[in-house]
Amino acid sequence: MATIELKDVIKSYGGVEVIHGVSLEIADHEFMVFVGPSGCGKSTLLRMVAGLETVTDGDVLIGDKQVNALEPRYRDIAMVFQDYALYPHMTVRENMAFGLKMRKASDAEVKERLAEAADILQITPLLDRKPGQLSGGQRQRVAMGRAIVRRPSAFLFDEPLSNLDAKLRVDMRTQIKRLHALLKTTTIYVTHDQVEAMTLADRITVLRNGYIEQVGTPFDLYERPANLFVAEFIGSPAMNMVKARYVVEDGKAEAVIRDDLRITLPQYRLQNGVEVVLGIRPEHLEPSQFRAHGDAITLPAMTKILEPLGSDVIALCELGGLELTARLTPGRVSRAGESIDLVFDTAHIHLFEAQGGRRVQALTHNSVQ
Ligand SMILES: Nc1ncnc2c1ncn2[C@@H]1O[C@H](COP(=O)(O)OP(=O)(O)OP(=O)(O)O)[C@@H](O)[C@H]1O
Ligand SMILES: [Mg+2]
Repeated sequence: MATIELKDVIKSYGGVEVIHGVSLEIADHEFMVFVGPSGCGKSTLLRMVAGLETVTDGDVLIGDKQVNALEPRYRDIAMVFQDYALYPHMTVRENMAFGLKMRKASDAEVKERLAEAADILQITPLLDRKPGQLSGGQRQRVAMGRAIVRRPSAFLFDEPLSNLDAKLRVDMRTQIKRLHALLKTTTIYVTHDQVEAMTLADRITVLRNGYIEQVGTPFDLYERPANLFVAEFIGSPAMNMVKARYVVEDGKAEAVIRDDLRITLPQYRLQNGVEVVLGIRPEHLEPSQFRAHGDAITLPAMTKILEPLGSDVIALCELGGLELTARLTPGRVSRAGESIDLVFDTAHIHLFEAQGGRRVQALTHNSVQ
């Protein structure tokens, strides 16, 4: 078992800096997910931990030991890639045993560890097949088996499920979660799928353009996104973003969306008149007739497109040129092209500065911070 730490890590390729001083501590047993759009540096960071890329500046520590110059095979970590990287001419058994044999493990030890890993992953009946005779999901399990048998102090996963179909992805996601609950091995898991990130992670690191945007538990990121980027990235359907001006008059704060559309707000640490963005999650919008008590903001809208998902309905609505997405209980909305008063509680508003996108703290007690 091990902690992993990045200290002011910089990576440049041919003079172009792509990771700009990343610092991060991953606790022993922790499941850390790196998430972010394509090209943000997820794989590069992971590969520097693995030792497959050099660090241009800064330090990588595994279990308090600086490993910048240590070859991958001495780092005591196992990596699982998107394309599995199995040897096609070897059986599953040989693929899984290969790394152990290279490390001169005894036959008895190889046998025992293999049996244990095959049992955990339910691939015992497949041990004598070659990778070409396996489905994608089975190959993925073999790749994980190969990592498990080594009993490394950390697992590194780089988009391990992205070649699988939707149903299998969900199954394998559960498997990985179960595996972590069982083995508790420190893990870094790279994905660009925010649902995967939310469901698997103890903590998530959101990256953009080689910088960390936010680190936190799935709950932190969902409830208190630090900026517009994280707010838009986490949550599906994405948070509604409404531009407004923050105006304080006679000690009363309002978000002025248009002259005829104003929302009373708690007071924020903001200059009067500054441009802001209101964030409202789709599940916080509701048709007014289904709301018992007052104390809410009403937005008169029109349903445009309904997407029934079974458990709920995603309604794309229009409000005088604004588009809003609402996640509604089925039956609470009947058809597209219907007038609908959408209400939401101001306690659920997220407020961001339009300039720079930073989350703003409310001043009053009892309101969203
Ligand atoms: N070997 C390389 N030489 C030059 N630039 C590279 C190299 N590898 C990665 N990069 C650049 O570094 C940046 C980060 O790449 P990286 O592969 O880490 O992104 P990623 O977040 O894993 O993206 P994806 O989700 O597409 O896998 C990108 O701008 C990429 O073009
Ligand atoms: Mg990548």
